[in-house]
Amino acid sequence: MENSTGVLKFPDGFLWGATTSSYQVEGGNTNNDWWQWEQIPGKIADGSRCGLACDHYHLYQSDFDIAKELGHNAHRFSLEWSRIEPRQGKWDEKAIAHYRNVLSALKQRQIAPLVTLFHFTLPVWASKEGGFENPKIVYFFQRFATKVCAELGQNVDYWLTLNEPMVYIYMGYIVKKWPPGRNIRLKIIKVLQNMLRAHAQAYWAIHRTSQNFPDRKNPLVGLTKYIRIFQPYNKSSLLDRASARLKDYFFNHYILDIISTGSMKLLLGLGRALPEIKKTFDFIGLDYYTRELTGFNLSKPSQFFRESNLSREGDVSDSGWEIYPEGIYLSLIKLKKYGVPVIVTENGLADKEDKKRSRFIVDHLIQVHRAMEEGIDVRGYLHWSLMDNFEWQEGFLPRFGLAEVDYTTQKRTLRPSAHIFARICKTNQITPHLLRDTL
Ligand code: NOJ
Repeated sequence: MENSTGVLKFPDGFLWGATTSSYQVEGGNTNNDWWQWEQIPGKIADGSRCGLACDHYHLYQSDFDIAKELGHNAHRFSLEWSRIEPRQGKWDEKAIAHYRNVLSALKQRQIAPLVTLFHFTLPVWASKEGGFENPKIVYFFQRFATKVCAELGQNVDYWLTLNEPMVYIYMGYIVKKWPPGRNIRLKIIKVLQNMLRAHAQAYWAIHRTSQNFPDRKNPLVGLTKYIRIFQPYNKSSLLDRASARLKDYFFNHYILDIISTGSMKLLLGLGRALPEIKKTFDFIGLDYYTRELTGFNLSKPSQFFRESNLSREGDVSDSGWEIYPEGIYLSLIKLKKYGVPVIVTENGLADKEDKKRSRFIVDHLIQVHRAMEEGIDVRGYLHWSLMDNFEWQEGFLPRFGLAEVDYTTQKRTLRPSAHIFARICKTNQITPHLLRDTL
């Protein structure tokens, strides 16, 4: 609600916080496909290796102190499957105990956990089995979900099965900058189907397993969806408009439509019924970063599905991504048709000097608020990321953190924008005064 003083208020209980993922911050993960991938020369732009990353595996307590100090009441992180199940069917009790400690550290600080099961890394054994190309992954993932829910679920109200499945497919099978880096042509549809079936079985497994916990309400289970706003480079070009619409359909809606309807549309009007997938989200995690102006290049039709790299209209982040706050509003509007609550599970930018982050956060939150005023049920906003971390094929150069990380000493230093965001988290509102401070 905006009151007469121009204050934008968020509802009581709104979730405020930040997100990380295991491989990007923990350090010491050498038993997954990403670690193997990194060993191949040339895969990481700055030549780095993830290595110790932020050593968050050991420093989580002090990292959560930072989150607490910043007024966060929620935190999203992922469980590293390769630690918990280092060999097929063999559980590592120490790793499970570690994540139990992580969850109780959050609880002690009254920070609600949002737990992701798959954030782009597969145990080496699962990747050797063919990863998501092998239908067995559905069983493997369900078994993993059941185990971690039984062991850790007592204190988890929000689960996310898969992180950004479409991004994973795009990076791993189309542009091949991530593992498995394979060209499997039309079999890609199988990968997608296996991912969604794995998601659905994990969804059911978490709900089933949670019933064994006495005196607790059912958790909300969902997945994160990266939404990118595609707009035509040349608004009056029919082809550019068609390109934007097609990308929007495949990249933003295809997966969610399958889950929502339980049926997968294929070419030539053919479809496949996947009833066990239907409505397997209690909420959607929205990951929003940028807009892409897209066009259809007749001389390079393959660009139809590729990033067009056309000029950006607005200001950009260190990674060259356009800063387009209205896009988060447009994304939330897109999600309305799925009829479930949304939590913004990622939003942020690479900004080493922290010149743009404060404004970025405030401008995006104003747009989130706008969507909420229009009736979209948004339950929280989690910034990417709590601290600088390993940005996959880009290595350590992009700096996404509210806290800067010195990778030699592991010292964390809060960026000024972290304090601006903290004022919002602590007061549950954006005031004109705060707006002035971000100019
Ligand atoms: C989304 C991904 O989930 C995360 O792993 C990545 O670091 C951020 N986007 C920034 O690119």
